[in-house]
Amino acid sequence: MAFTFFFRDQPVLEYAVEQTIRLALGRMRIKVWDAGCALGQEPYTLTILFAERLGSAFNNLYLDASDYDSENNFGDIVKQATYKYEELQRIPADIFKKYFDKQDNALYRVCNKVRSRVFFQYHNLLSLKPIGSDYALVVCKNVLLHFQYSERIEVIKMYHRALSPGGYLALENTQKMPNEIAHLFEQVVPDARLYKKVR
Ligand SMILES: C[S@@+](CC[C@H](N)C(=O)[O-])C[C@H]1O[C@@H](n2cnc3c(N)ncnc32)[C@H](O)[C@@H]1O
Repeated sequence: MAFTFFFRDQPVLEYAVEQTIRLALGRMRIKVWDAGCALGQEPYTLTILFAERLGSAFNNLYLDASDYDSENNFGDIVKQATYKYEELQRIPADIFKKYFDKQDNALYRVCNKVRSRVFFQYHNLLSLKPIGSDYALVVCKNVLLHFQYSERIEVIKMYHRALSPGGYLALENTQKMPNEIAHLFEQVVPDARLYKKVR
């Protein structure tokens, strides 16, 4: 079972969302790809962070979430978006109240407004074919560590192709950008693995 949780690495996700909005507000489509999204906790966290900041432009958000685990029906779980109460306790109380609907005592469902902006598909990153293009933000956290060094380089190059000019790539803090492709991105701040596509 994939290890993940709501609001994991919240400061970096918040910063990535704010930079993305500065870049893409005004576009007809604000496109985001969460690659290796596991059971949905990260894409729904991102979508909530956008909802908090976008106002009416929230309807322009298209968040593509992908994972390759079909054996455990990740797609059904992400689309259902129903989680046990004990999984939700890290979520700030005001956010929890606003974006989760009670199903019964133990289960809560992500509200329709947020669910309606998340589009899940099965996808193997090692196919090296992006699921779309013109993304303002690609988030790929705690996934690349499963790949060999040469595969990481190819997957990051795929993200580069999938990003719009000036788009952002967010990796986990322990994931260093390989030297071979460092020229394709600039690191936005020294203390977070948030990169901007530069060419
Ligand atoms: C530890 S979880 C990370 C979840 C979330 N991104 C986070 O940081 O909390 C790693 C995810 O990567 C997915 N994954 C691993 N190899 C993959 C591949 N080749 N293609 C797509 N997803 C993959 C796994 O199925 C798993 O859901």
